[in-house]
Amino acid sequence: MSATARRPPGHPPHSRPVPTDPAVDAMVAALPKVSLHCHLIGTVAPGTVAELAAKHGVPLGRGVEDLYDHDSYQDLGEFLRVLDVVGSVIRDVDDFHRVTYESLTAGGADHNVLYREIQLSPPGHPGVPYPRILEGVVAGLRDARSDTGIDARLVVGINRERSGAEAVELVQQVIEHRVDEVVGIGLDYAEVNGPPGRFVEAYRLAGRAGLDRTAHSESGPPGHVLTLLDELGCSRIDHGYHVVDDPEITSRCVAERIPFTCTPVSSDIGRYSGSGDGTHTRIRQMVDAGLCVTIDSDDPPMFGTDPTHDFRVLAHALGYRREQLAAFTANAIDACWLDGTGKADLRRRAAAMVAATPDAPPPDHSHLLEETP
Ligand code: ADE
Ligand code: ZN
Repeated sequence: MSATARRPPGHPPHSRPVPTDPAVDAMVAALPKVSLHCHLIGTVAPGTVAELAAKHGVPLGRGVEDLYDHDSYQDLGEFLRVLDVVGSVIRDVDDFHRVTYESLTAGGADHNVLYREIQLSPPGHPGVPYPRILEGVVAGLRDARSDTGIDARLVVGINRERSGAEAVELVQQVIEHRVDEVVGIGLDYAEVNGPPGRFVEAYRLAGRAGLDRTAHSESGPPGHVLTLLDELGCSRIDHGYHVVDDPEITSRCVAERIPFTCTPVSSDIGRYSGSGDGTHTRIRQMVDAGLCVTIDSDDPPMFGTDPTHDFRVLAHALGYRREQLAAFTANAIDACWLDGTGKADLRRRAAAMVAATPDAPPPDHSHLLEETP
């Protein structure tokens, strides 16, 4: 993984240690989660990357222990170059089965994730035909469901750094090889290199085929949210942190209950979208504005996180406790692309798990009071 630059000398690490608090830890582990913003390539554990690289004879240039050097991601581009290397070692049907299965079991069910809509990135596996990706992923999904009960659907991601014509071709493939598991499309990679307007034709084609639509807007201006809603026909937004910079667009999104799939740790470490300083200010502003926010992990091991840890980070940074964290999951159930019966089933299961989870005591702010004159 020699493409990755190391953190310059004297540059502070992005990741902040989170204090240990047994009551918070027990609460975040037990709460149900619904995962709507997770990239398959970004969920691959470092040991699996090393094994697949050895299997296919791909030199990684560094050991498993620092395969994902979180502190080296100075911007989204540096992170995406690492993601490309990981994507390039997932090649045959068995590989896709394995990474999907691991993503949904150790990376999902073990954290009480009840349901995941996982984003595939066919352009991230150069030379691999889309039907081969689907075959392995769908088999992994079915095995994970029968072994653990976790359910999942697939979102096919368009690489926005490529052309609009390539995006149309990908959507055509999705339509040609239609399977029930693929419920929608997404738009990932760097927003600065691919404005959303470039993908109107691909999104319209997907819409006509009955596919649901989402897209990333992490660093872009609030106006991009309008393009996603009005021109691309998105029913939810991935990240969308800059919406709160525009009160009018925020009010519209509150009124229309547009879901925003936020990812605290990856956004913070990546420094490309969130507050970048561990305060998670934008997520707090979004919640306070009344927006429909969901929480997920984006690319969990690559950012040193997992579904439980993202809840834990918000519990510490923003003082959120059981009701707010459970509300994120309830929002995600509303925002997911299951039918009414599927959503009702998830709501029932999530409610029972929340009721069985003891709340942690509220955060202790006494030290702040003592400092007040
Ligand atoms: N691909 C994987 N993670 C991503 C992210 N956070 N933003 C854009 N593209 C991605
Ligand atoms: Zn993402």
